[in-house]
Amino acid sequence: MENENSLQKEIELYLEEEDIDKEKIRNFFETKIADISKTRLYEFTKLMAYYRCAMMEVETKLNVLNVEFSLQHDRNPINDIKTRLKSFKSIKEKLERQNLPFNLSSIESNLHDIAGVRVVCSFPDDVYMLADALLKQDDITLVSKKDYIENPKPNGYRSLHMIITVPIFLAHEKKLMKVEIQLRTIAMDVWASLEHQLRYKKNAKFTKEMADELLYCAKISAELDEKMDKLRSLTQP
Ligand code: GTP
Ligand code: MG
Repeated sequence: MENENSLQKEIELYLEEEDIDKEKIRNFFETKIADISKTRLYEFTKLMAYYRCAMMEVETKLNVLNVEFSLQHDRNPINDIKTRLKSFKSIKEKLERQNLPFNLSSIESNLHDIAGVRVVCSFPDDVYMLADALLKQDDITLVSKKDYIENPKPNGYRSLHMIITVPIFLAHEKKLMKVEIQLRTIAMDVWASLEHQLRYKKNAKFTKEMADELLYCAKISAELDEKMDKLRSLTQP
């Protein structure tokens, strides 16, 4: 906004000049528009860098919990951690879909999944142990939680989703950033990855039969998790 107001003032001053040189005006506008775009791009890149830092913070916290647990129990509760930053295109499309403005404050207040951390755990119990341990930390605040393990989605999808805030410490300020964390077991992750591939396959129809089969696979995957957790409890009561 500040940029736009000062640009407006500069334009008015230009127009007050006696001999208006069209070429000069064109150059002036092109340079100013380029400056504004550069500033906007810089601000956007900066915000994305903050989200990336927040993701790194969460990943480190999870790695620390993994190390501590493996020292105590001689096994790793975390199988894999994947992080992803939402792309410019996906951010723009998601805001457009919801009829929301595309600007920095709208991104920050309306989108909760710019920074995404997916934690693939060994056993279902590990999912809850890690979620609890993370939420207990005094710099982490829970914004929302959806337990699709306790209450799977109608298509069979299971995972524990949490939106949290984590502080990042910059040279002159502390910023609270939102991060979406999805915790799931290896079995849940396999199912979700394959379901996603089948559902979004180009030029292929996703039929009712396929949906039914996938729901059945989700049931088998849940049984597998349950059996594995029972086996685990025999070795680690
Ligand atoms: P989005 O607007 O897509 O972020 O969904 P939402 O705000 O309703 O949140 P929800 O917790 O339902 O889903 C968020 C994310 O979980 C998605 O972006 C996917 O990564 C994952 N997810 C949710 N449902 C499914 C599903 O049925 N299948 C798969 N494969 N992934 C899912
Ligand atoms: Mg999402």
